[in-house]
Amino acid sequence: TGQVTLDTGFVNTASCVSSITYIDGDQGILRYRGYPIEQLAEGSTFLESSYLLIHGELPSASQLAEFSGKIQHHTLLHEEMRRFFDGFPRDAHPMAVLSSAVSALSTFYQDSLNPFDKEQVEISTIRLLAKVPTIASYAYKKAIGQPMLYPDNSLGYVENFLRMTFGVPATPYEIDPVAVKVLDMLLLLHADHEQNCSTSTVRLVGSSQANLFASVSAGVNALFGPLHGGANQAVLEMLQQIHTDGGDIQSFVRKVKNKEAGVRLMGFGHRVYKNYDPRAALVKKAAQEVLGRMATPDPLLDLAMQLEEIALADDFFVSRKLYPNVDFYTGLIYKAMGFPTTMFTVLFALGRLPGWIAQWREMINDPETKIGRPRQVYTGYGARDYTPIAAR
Ligand code: CMC
Repeated sequence: TGQVTLDTGFVNTASCVSSITYIDGDQGILRYRGYPIEQLAEGSTFLESSYLLIHGELPSASQLAEFSGKIQHHTLLHEEMRRFFDGFPRDAHPMAVLSSAVSALSTFYQDSLNPFDKEQVEISTIRLLAKVPTIASYAYKKAIGQPMLYPDNSLGYVENFLRMTFGVPATPYEIDPVAVKVLDMLLLLHADHEQNCSTSTVRLVGSSQANLFASVSAGVNALFGPLHGGANQAVLEMLQQIHTDGGDIQSFVRKVKNKEAGVRLMGFGHRVYKNYDPRAALVKKAAQEVLGRMATPDPLLDLAMQLEEIALADDFFVSRKLYPNVDFYTGLIYKAMGFPTTMFTVLFALGRLPGWIAQWREMINDPETKIGRPRQVYTGYGARDYTPIAAR
């Protein structure tokens, strides 16, 4: 009761207090637990930053070895879980398969669903981080009709994922160290972003004391949409379409400005960043490096850079403070690595996983947490009398 304030899209409403991630949207600053994203991208790894997000401090060498070792140990999926993938149609979107599989983890690990048991939360944390790459690669293998590969626990986190995704039993898989390094950095850049749509979803679901797997699978579904994580797939489809239509960027930009049929410049704009997205700057640099190594350069990179240049000089985008976001250049790198567009958002989910987990844990441990239950401004009918069907 009391005064209800309408805030569509929660533009001005803080839903929690958090000490995990700091964003200054006007200055383009992003920090995990106080550490600037640029320094982490340069010096840290995805697993080290995951530890940082989840536990609050950078790990010592032995803490990191223990954390990584536990994750390595849990990469295998339950054999029944492997069969779970057979039930989906071949052309299922891997994000839909991923969210279903994450949800299904709560059927296999009923021993660790109590949100208030610290040990159970810890083992669920490890299982999620360990098994989601396996699930993601199986979703891909299912789609292309190749056999699923068991994880190889002698490999590092990203190496293992790349091998399960692109390897086949018939030939030894050769690991490309540049791909490993770049993908590790991209996952790190996606690892947390405070109260975005999927993270808020994870917290909201978790606020009902639903278990970690259930909460994270809801987060995967929130990420699926094209205005959120699905944007990386949408960017590449947009670039491909402009390319197929003859590369006329100006006419595409005109369509966006005229708001024709809701056409947006995908990979541009952000609720919080009203300046360059610091992640986009790092991704752009990586895209130029990775694509620069290719024998035949991808014409879509050039197109993307021209599109960015044109948009940043156009008053429509400037006045609305629309800059490239993290999704603008990532797809080009994923494509160069051999991922199909439908896997792009799955890669985002892999990256965001530690953030969802850290935020869920912060929420569950916060004594101030209440069940998330927004109010509304009702605009429907006042009271009226029911009429029997014969009288309508
Ligand atoms: N292209 C064209 N116009 C845009 C765009 C865009 N990408 N983004 C915003 N606008 C316009 C919008 O039409 C509105 O104009 P007007 O004032 O004339 O009505 C104005 O800019 C403000 O937009 P908004 O929709 O009110 O802003 P928002 O904070 O609600 O939305 C956003 C943020 C990210 C959903 C939006 O910018 C967008 O749809 N971008 C394209 C999708 C995208 O790249 N999403 C990824 C976001 S970053 C990572 C992630 O979360 O996955």
